[in-house]
Amino acid sequence: MSQTTTTTLLQKKQQGEKITMLTSYDASMTKVLERAGIDTILVGDSLGMVIQGQRSTLPVEIDEMIYHTRCVARGLGSALLIADMPFMSYNSPDQALHNAARLMKEGGAHMVKLEGGAMQLDTVHHLNDYSIPVCAHLGLTPQSVHKLGGYRVQGKDEESARVIKEDAMALESAGAQILVLECVPSALAAEISRVLRIPVIGIGAGVDCDGQVLVVYDMLGITSGHKPRFVKDFMAQAGSVEGAVAAYIEEVRAGRFPTEEHSFK
Ligand code: KIV
Repeated sequence: MSQTTTTTLLQKKQQGEKITMLTSYDASMTKVLERAGIDTILVGDSLGMVIQGQRSTLPVEIDEMIYHTRCVARGLGSALLIADMPFMSYNSPDQALHNAARLMKEGGAHMVKLEGGAMQLDTVHHLNDYSIPVCAHLGLTPQSVHKLGGYRVQGKDEESARVIKEDAMALESAGAQILVLECVPSALAAEISRVLRIPVIGIGAGVDCDGQVLVVYDMLGITSGHKPRFVKDFMAQAGSVEGAVAAYIEEVRAGRFPTEEHSFK
């Protein structure tokens, strides 16, 4: 299989082919995802919760992200590898450049992901100037959980929906090459996916995004505690990790996941 690049993803969007993304934090899981034909792998800072057992993603350190990105890179085949920039690792364009370069040089990431809208525009420009591809993340941004007052659906009223849409367009203009939209009403996500040229990957954002992402432990049904509405346990029917990942990829590509049951109005 040839290497998946941002060009491949752009072509998929243009051709109406759905993009598949799952998180991974180690080499063995990465090889399972690769064998199933995943397009993109995200080393999410969700590892703070699902690997480290923390209550949020806030305590995750850049060195921990580099360690897990390096583990994933060792199992990588042709998927595009995106690594999250953890909380407080991109407070200025120069700090972001330093840490993003570490994720690429020491971790082997192809792209970095960061949360936030208007206030990240200078940083996205700066990374772009230095040839570091950026995946932006809007809607429910978990690093802002305390400011948002919990893990809540975003963009439900007209004004907040307008801000998310304008941020999305500004991030694209600043050079972001992918946008992750988390927990926003399906109609808003559909509109943003329509107006942006770059691929929009949804999680709790409805079926009309250009692709989907889930935390791999969530879709394998092994995350304990509260199960968010947007999560589907693919393991329940598949019976094996390989089968669950294959079912996820097939359902995303066919536009059968997510359904309304996993989406917000
Ligand atoms: O950290 C993460 O895993 C993420 C995805 C849920 C989008 O940001």
